[in-house]
Amino acid sequence: MKIGIIKETFEGECRVAGTPKSIARLKKQGFDVVVESGAGANADFTDDAYREAGAEVLGSAKDVWEAADVLTKVRIATLDEVPLSHEDQVVISMVSPAQNKELIDTFAERKVTLLALDCVPRISRAQSMDVLSSMANIAGYRAVLEAANVYGSFFTGQTTAAGSVPPAKVLIIGAGVAGLAALGAARGLGAIVRAFDTRAAVREQVESLGGEFLEVEFEESGEGGGGYAKLMSPEFIEAEMALFMEQAKEVDIVITTALIPGRKAPTLWTEDHVKAMKPGSVIVDMAAESGGNCECTEHGKAVVAHGVTILGYSDLPSRMARVASDLFGTNISHLTKELGKAEGFAIDHENEITRGALVLDKGEMLWPASKKEAPPAPKPTPKPEPVPEVAKAVEAPPSGAGKAIFNVLALAMAAGWIGLRFGMGNEQLSPELAIFLQHLTVFVLACFVGWQVVWSVTAALHTPLMSVTNAISGIIIVGGILQAIGDTTSAPVLVGAAATLFATINIFGGFFVTKRMLQMFQK
Ligand code: NAI
Repeated sequence: MKIGIIKETFEGECRVAGTPKSIARLKKQGFDVVVESGAGANADFTDDAYREAGAEVLGSAKDVWEAADVLTKVRIATLDEVPLSHEDQVVISMVSPAQNKELIDTFAERKVTLLALDCVPRISRAQSMDVLSSMANIAGYRAVLEAANVYGSFFTGQTTAAGSVPPAKVLIIGAGVAGLAALGAARGLGAIVRAFDTRAAVREQVESLGGEFLEVEFEESGEGGGGYAKLMSPEFIEAEMALFMEQAKEVDIVITTALIPGRKAPTLWTEDHVKAMKPGSVIVDMAAESGGNCECTEHGKAVVAHGVTILGYSDLPSRMARVASDLFGTNISHLTKELGKAEGFAIDHENEITRGALVLDKGEMLWPASKKEAPPAPKPTPKPEPVPEVAKAVEAPPSGAGKAIFNVLALAMAAGWIGLRFGMGNEQLSPELAIFLQHLTVFVLACFVGWQVVWSVTAALHTPLMSVTNAISGIIIVGGILQAIGDTTSAPVLVGAAATLFATINIFGGFFVTKRMLQMFQK
């Protein structure tokens, strides 16, 4: 089965739907790959690189359309390209079916199967095929670089011999995939970042990336289901714009990404907001293609209004064509895997992902997929503390039975001690037994208190706790070594040696576990 990759014909589009990296994946899935000569030139992939990855390079787009059973593209084919397709061919690209009715009809006449990458449902299982997220992530990052390029100062604060420069203040409106990527990039450059979103659920994500989450004093949820936003009431938008007016006077850079799926982007930054900004400030309106969040945006252009530069570029991923193509190609290779690889390639209508993306099946219009009835919401259960896997494995709290046995043992020892101590008068105790009882008391109490302390600490904090127990283990080793001097068969020496051994295991075990945990955070 042959997969074809052709050069994009849309003006200014530098991405390509397959790269040497993604071709290697397709080859592993059993596909043969044909590529149009020069297809990857604008993304820095040469024909030779494609050949090395195992693809056959053909002279023209027409040859590739003819040879391919599955044709992959970034943007939907143009009306000029549709006649190159053939019956039973599968075409995979971004489609925007709601906006491209005429094109889809012409494809339908040719009995083509059309899969829209932009309609892959945004469910966890489909994340590896989600080109919208891959591209929004790149776009958010690039938006910050574009802003930095025209902003006349540092992002990070600087103290120099010639004076100090405060850090840039960045406001991000809409903390979805693109907004969060922009937040991460701006923080990485050292700016102070604030973010606003109508969905309260993103607060944690904003804060975990080092941003400040702004709020309006207005109770209204922005959750529209499926992780998407809903259209807010005019009153909410008014409150939001009042908050932005305050921010406009302070911030140097604004990046807007606010979008409601299937609608024109809401206007959130009016000309008055632009006027209130300091001259030299920058706005990147990422929603420019959907109508823009800023009143002064011109789609695809950089304009200056009231001393503020407003960037309305909608080709941000294409400006990082190499990585964008790599991720795009990888997303496609995950989809072809979902479709059954070369051997079992089939359009399965029962598969939620395939069905969601399916626009035409052999010319039959099947978009939009009817939505399945949502399952009843599960009863809320208390959320367990997140515990790192290693910590879970190493420090899982004891079972109820284990705890009960320990408590019984501790109580039995305590009862035995009380019986011995108070059952006999002090005068009846031999000096050895008195010392033994004294040690036993300390031992039992230490076990009991230690047990209660350790298991009362939340599991997520067991790792820092381990550092403390390492310090205690150090003290035990010193005590153990002091006890272990003398007759090697006497009980104190044996106990001292055992204590030294166990405390050593605890210390090295602690280091080992900590090392493994640190590796989990290394990229
Ligand atoms: P997304 O749907 O994940 O994020 C949009 C966010 O805006 C959501 O978190 C939503 O809650 C928020 N939002 C909606 N209404 C709001 C309001 N009134 N106030 C504040 N926040 C509000 O979308 P994603 O994938 O992050 O994309 C964001 C935008 O970036 C879209 O407009 C998309 O078309 C655009 N984009 C632009 C590119 C470019 O080259 N300029 C490339 C890729 C994406």
